[in-house]
Amino acid sequence: MLRAPAVLGVRKRPRPAEAGGAGRQEVKFGDVRLYLVERKMGLSRRSFLTRLARSKGFIVDEALSDTVTHVVSEDREASSLWTWLRQRALKDLPGMHVLDISWFTDSMREGRPVAVETRHLIQDTLPTPPGCSTPPPAPASSISQYACQRRTTTENRNRIFTDALEVLAESCEFNEMEGRCLAFRRAASVLKSLPAAVQRLEATRGLPCLGEHTRAVIEEILQCGHSFEVRKILSDERYQTLKLFTSVFGVGPKTAEKWYRRGLRSFSDVLAEPGVRLNRMQQSGFLHYGDISRAVSKAEARALGNIIDEAVRAITPDAQLALTGGFRRGKEFGHDVDFIVTTPEQGREETILPQIIQRMKKQGILLYSDYQASTFDVSKLPSHRFEAMDHFAKCFLILRLEGNQVDAGLNNAEGDSRSWRAVRVDLVAPPMDRYAFALLGWTGSRQFERDLRRFARMERQMLLDNHALYHKTKKEFLAATTEKDIFAHLGLEYMEPWQRNA
Ligand code: UTP
Ligand code: MG
Repeated sequence: MLRAPAVLGVRKRPRPAEAGGAGRQEVKFGDVRLYLVERKMGLSRRSFLTRLARSKGFIVDEALSDTVTHVVSEDREASSLWTWLRQRALKDLPGMHVLDISWFTDSMREGRPVAVETRHLIQDTLPTPPGCSTPPPAPASSISQYACQRRTTTENRNRIFTDALEVLAESCEFNEMEGRCLAFRRAASVLKSLPAAVQRLEATRGLPCLGEHTRAVIEEILQCGHSFEVRKILSDERYQTLKLFTSVFGVGPKTAEKWYRRGLRSFSDVLAEPGVRLNRMQQSGFLHYGDISRAVSKAEARALGNIIDEAVRAITPDAQLALTGGFRRGKEFGHDVDFIVTTPEQGREETILPQIIQRMKKQGILLYSDYQASTFDVSKLPSHRFEAMDHFAKCFLILRLEGNQVDAGLNNAEGDSRSWRAVRVDLVAPPMDRYAFALLGWTGSRQFERDLRRFARMERQMLLDNHALYHKTKKEFLAATTEKDIFAHLGLEYMEPWQRNA
């Protein structure tokens, strides 16, 4: 959901990785933390390799903990290594790369962490531990920790678990525990990609990104049909209130928290409180709350597509308009409808949104509009504000949609006899040469985008955002005119939008 920029802006950025154990040497690869296994390597060689790696800007941890990303071993005997690793009681072991020394030597030679390839991996070959009668399911071991390497349709067979994990993630978000929030979202995303419902805890063995906490939740749901922890959160007054307040367009977690601290618990409390000053976005959020908190149907999205297409054609016949966001991924319902529009004539895209807005105003269908002019500056790339909003011209709208324009009728509440409803629409207008990056970025899902960027950073030493793809070591931008070009640059198999519902 898009929120007021002020609200987005207050999000804390994660702290840069601490150079734990890296001495005073400069850390060049903060996302990669190595641990060198002493077995077979020996203490003196381990110390030598540690110094070597640190001198090249790598972080090498002395202790094996859940923060380690790459475990390097000279012990190629997988079973003894994996037995030893299992005994370390690590939560994130499934998410770590367990690599033989060839990855390390390749990386030292290149002076950067090289992409992990199958030949580097020391694969877990351990038999099922005693007590588990079923062997791990075949797909589990081959499921990637990155959502951009898992095909995820809208058909979620594990909703009972993912809904619970989403509540836990949201609760962490409200408590500013970003790491834990992300961990629950990653776990939920892995479960969404599974081809079948999890029926026994053993079926989750070997799945990446599932920590101890997540497993406990799954186990409880399997046994009792629900999670007691999730029930407790759902009945918690603070959670309920923050959830209610953040459901208003323009209200983010910080504002919701501020209102909660003032003792406000309901919309009427907020609206009656003299000290609360609502901005324009929030005023519209309250005014149209009933409509815009109601899901938008595919038929409604189609009708809006026709309206916007007509406006675009009237203004610039050669403009290119595409549906993006959740509806491009094949969702039946969404919280808004997202479109991307561009023009062959460079620079023309910057004026098209104000003209579309003007036209809608004249037609009497514009209920709210927040236009943000482009701040995109090619000379400022690569942007380091990944995950943040992009710099393209965009507008956040609330439009009036007439029932007679929707072939399947309006998705209005039962008993609502109005002939129209209000719908949230977002339009973004990148320059044509950025179109592929913007389309990929706005198609989502959010988790898919996060993992695409993490994959680029961790596995390819590249930076990806809605504007560009940058190769960090080659220090060059990789051009793309289609999404397929971007997947190819990243060395990823192409995924259709409907497979990106991570
Ligand atoms: P949405 O919040 O609209 O999500 O953002 P959605 O996937 O369409 O789902 P619903 O149905 O509306 O809830 C669409 C995508 O646009 C990207 C996000 O990554 C998200 O995946 N986005 C959104 C940006 O890149 N920049 C923005 O400023 C806003
Ligand atoms: Mg959307």
